[in-house]
Amino acid sequence: MSTRQTAYTTSGTETKALGKKFAGVLCGGDVVGLFGDLGAGKTTFVKGLAQGFGVRRVVKSPSFTLMNIHQTKHRGIKQLVHIDCYRLTNPNQLEEIGALEYFGRKDIVVIVEWAEKVKRLLPKKFLKVYFNIKKGDEREVRFG
Ligand SMILES: Nc1ncnc2c1ncn2[C@@H]1O[C@H](COP(=O)(O)OP(=O)(O)O)[C@@H](O)[C@H]1O
Ligand SMILES: [Mg+2]
Repeated sequence: MSTRQTAYTTSGTETKALGKKFAGVLCGGDVVGLFGDLGAGKTTFVKGLAQGFGVRRVVKSPSFTLMNIHQTKHRGIKQLVHIDCYRLTNPNQLEEIGALEYFGRKDIVVIVEWAEKVKRLLPKKFLKVYFNIKKGDEREVRFG
């Protein structure tokens, strides 16, 4: 999968499969920012991605906890850090909970929902995935 392309999905299952596939192109140290409205499929995508890394524990939206850390079953990548900024009231909260310390660590992948809210705190070269709600269950997922 190229990380510069656009995909269209028509169900949560498809978006999950896309996330799983995307896991295959990630390297330790990568930080991925997910953009898009509520219900666009970001958490669904993260579920698939976690599956791709062999995460056992069910991935829930960390809207209430802000950050979930998952152990993976991957050779090089030991942890998947899932951050959801939906309820974040101040970007500095990310720093307060120690989230920034996970960025760029070679055995960790960090994925951030609502990346638009914390853009200035993310590393310069973070990967971006944009989710758009189309008609009905169709979603446009753009990598870029
Ligand atoms: N193509 C699709 N991709 C992802 N989710 C879809 C799709 N079609 C319908 N859905 C539904 O939309 C919702 C997406 O929720 P979620 O992944 O939590 O979004 P977000 O994290 O962006 O708020 C789910 O209820 C899912 O079943
Ligand atoms: Mg979500």
